[in-house]
Amino acid sequence: MDQLLTEDQLDHFRTLAAEIPHPRELVVDVLRAIQNNHGWVPDEGVELAGTILGLSPLQVEEVATFFDKIYRRPVGRRVIHVCDSICCWSRGGEEVARLLQEKLGIGLGETTEDGIFTLLPTCCLGACGEAPAMMIGLTTYGHLTSDRIDLVLERERREAP
Ligand code: FES
Repeated sequence: MDQLLTEDQLDHFRTLAAEIPHPRELVVDVLRAIQNNHGWVPDEGVELAGTILGLSPLQVEEVATFFDKIYRRPVGRRVIHVCDSICCWSRGGEEVARLLQEKLGIGLGETTEDGIFTLLPTCCLGACGEAPAMMIGLTTYGHLTSDRIDLVLERERREAP
């Protein structure tokens, strides 16, 4: 397994954890760092975060499962979060989810065979004014149509590491 955290990151989080009254606040930051390095957060990552922060694996897991952008299973190099909340739903979100599944050839929760895309439903992305919307990495894409989805997928596929 590749390194979950670099020595610098370990030092950084240990120092921070010793300085703040509630190290639990750092759980998401530690898990995100592990995910950035490894692609997702394996059990060893949960244990490592617990060791650094003085928490049990269960306490870390509770936070990890609350955030749908912390991945506890292997995912593609690009994770598509398609919004299924009310504004998007009322403006064609279901059709967007259907188009994505059709274009990618996968269902919700699945990863394409080439390992590039994972498709996940998500709650409101805070982009209701641009509904229907989806998020890939840190980028939110709104006003989705079939053509726009094609463009976005093409660009993300080209730029996927
Ligand atoms: S309901 Fe989809 S972004 Fe808010």
